Amino acid sequence: SLAIVRSPATLRSVVTRWKRAGDSVAVVPTMGALHEGHLSLVRAARGLATRVIVTLFVNPKQFNDAGDLANYPRTEQTDAAKLTPLGIDVLYAPDAAAMYPAGFSTTVSVTGVSEGLCGGHRPGHFDGVATVVSKLLLQTGADVALFGEKDFQQLQVIRRLVRDLDIPVDVRGLPTVREADGLAMSSRNRRLSPERRKTAAQLFRILSAAADKLSAGEMAQPVIAEARAALLAAGFGSVEYLELRGESDLAPLTHADTPARLLAAVWLDDVRLIDNVAVKAS
Ligand code: PAJ
Repeated sequence: SLAIVRSPATLRSVVTRWKRAGDSVAVVPTMGALHEGHLSLVRAARGLATRVIVTLFVNPKQFNDAGDLANYPRTEQTDAAKLTPLGIDVLYAPDAAAMYPAGFSTTVSVTGVSEGLCGGHRPGHFDGVATVVSKLLLQTGADVALFGEKDFQQLQVIRRLVRDLDIPVDVRGLPTVREADGLAMSSRNRRLSPERRKTAAQLFRILSAAADKLSAGEMAQPVIAEARAALLAAGFGSVEYLELRGESDLAPLTHADTPARLLAAVWLDDVRLIDNVAVKAS
């Protein structure tokens, strides 16, 4: 049965007991409002360790917009119901006071991979992510931690911090889970009107077409200009960024001479969507 743990101290005693018994621990960090993208990580976790912890914490430090934090869906009971049949061991759902008690003063800040893209448009966001993920990895003592490629820059920030801080955890990145029409699953999709929801599917289609041209050796600048125009023509309100970057260091590329990623953030009314696709080296 699914135990819900609220405090770092209780979590520690549970994990210590498991480890003494020879168990290994996988963790799937989430902010809840679980969908198939999250659940695919949980199912994969089951095969990588004998114990699985899912964390549910809407981390205030990673929201640069107070309205976005206030609007973020909080659906713990439904989330727990979705997790129960998957046979996880613990749902770790601390409140903000347990995570950030009075006097909390430490920030984990990753340079390089956190710069530009989402980092350039959401000041402080990746400091908030790096700080909470460091805490969650240390609190859970996880041997393996699973993240989605949906948030590709976040995945690279986490890989970097784990290496830099010598956190003994194996970080796994899993492919983006999509709706039938290609739209990347996201808790924010539910805020789209039926008409906007149709437009949203064009993001993946346009990124994929551009990625094909880039992997055929075309230069990034004209391909990206064309894709940007296609996004606006499809009905997106604005394109926050659309860039070709190296896959692991996220360095800007003029063409795909090495494994790369095409990454985008776009706006549909007041909904911000992100997505990214792999670009094979040409
Ligand atoms: P959240 O947005 O809830 O996402 C939790 C995990 O699910 C992340 O690793 C994310 O990349 C993954 N995910 C989301 N949508 C996905 C999809 N369509 N396919 C595959 N994986 C998907 O990302 C966060 O929370 C937070 O920043 C967190 C890491 C928990 C730190 O607070």
